Amino acid sequence: MKNIQSNIKKAKNYLDKSHCVAVPTETVYGLAGNAYSDTAVKKIFNLKRRPANNPLIVHYYNLKKISEDCEINDNFIKLYKKFSPGPITYILKLKKNSKISKFVTNNKKTVAIRFPKHPLFRKLLKNLKYPVAAPSANISSRLSAVKAADVKDEFGNKIKFILNGGVCKIGVESTILNITNKPRLLRYGGLSVSKIKKTLNQKIIININSKDKISPGLFPLHYSPGLPLRMNAKKNKKNEAFVLLKKRENISKDIYYLSKTRNLNEAARNLYSVLRKIKKDKYKSIAVEKIPNEGIGKTINDRLKRASNFK
Ligand code: TXA
Ligand code: MG
Repeated sequence: MKNIQSNIKKAKNYLDKSHCVAVPTETVYGLAGNAYSDTAVKKIFNLKRRPANNPLIVHYYNLKKISEDCEINDNFIKLYKKFSPGPITYILKLKKNSKISKFVTNNKKTVAIRFPKHPLFRKLLKNLKYPVAAPSANISSRLSAVKAADVKDEFGNKIKFILNGGVCKIGVESTILNITNKPRLLRYGGLSVSKIKKTLNQKIIININSKDKISPGLFPLHYSPGLPLRMNAKKNKKNEAFVLLKKRENISKDIYYLSKTRNLNEAARNLYSVLRKIKKDKYKSIAVEKIPNEGIGKTINDRLKRASNFK
């Protein structure tokens, strides 16, 4: 307990001075900085080697402060009540007098906001006078980090501090929904679209490959372990790692599995760790068996599809 308090204090001290620290969320680790500070936000982009035109998500403790920064609406309230804190990011209209750094939004009129659920990050947010901009804590286009050691793998000693909150429970990024107008899904994620649809009782436009410059679908290559990857494979080739959804009785060399019981939530949680492990085990390519395209399986398939653009 004492350790937790002192780690949170450490993280706060760095953030207050416009440095970046890594923070745990229920989805993936984030690379955090003061969202109101141009200095902090520019550091995030530099560390990640992220193109300036790819905006960041701003993380809040609760509803209280957001009305200073963005316009809320009925759909937002409905979803917030049901799913926040949790793995959903809302795109809302940015207020003109908002203090959010223009580098966060790349000067756009909208902003992505999210209320993360991890108790450590929540404790930290509660102690801050500003919201936190945090993209996933990985070098641009690579796999997100789901534990402190992954963050270290990505950045080495380049970041000041990692607030270690164990392994992320969901393991894939938040679902992104634009609700400035008719609800539009911009990224499959930890919260299933069917649950959102049920709550709003409205059609959700699927917009994940939008040509919009400002969209998570911006980069066809994303979430990549840095190895060629093919999906829907029936078997593996020589020197190719083979990823199964469910563990088999006889696990031979080259075989990796995402779940013990064919559980898609467990598979999502293990996805990035398994891909990282395969890379560490020095395979030259990856084959993944067919994953059912339902619930969070849609998110897994989305990530695999983007990763499969690595040549
Ligand atoms: O689970 C998550 O969402 C994690 C944790 C750390 O919160 N964060 C995360 O951030 O995945 P990042 O930066 O890796 O992905 C955020 C995505 C980007 O693809 C970006 O294009 C999109 O959100 N985005 C941010 N602001 C946007 C906006 N105003 N309109 C449309 N897309 C936006
Ligand atoms: Mg990311």
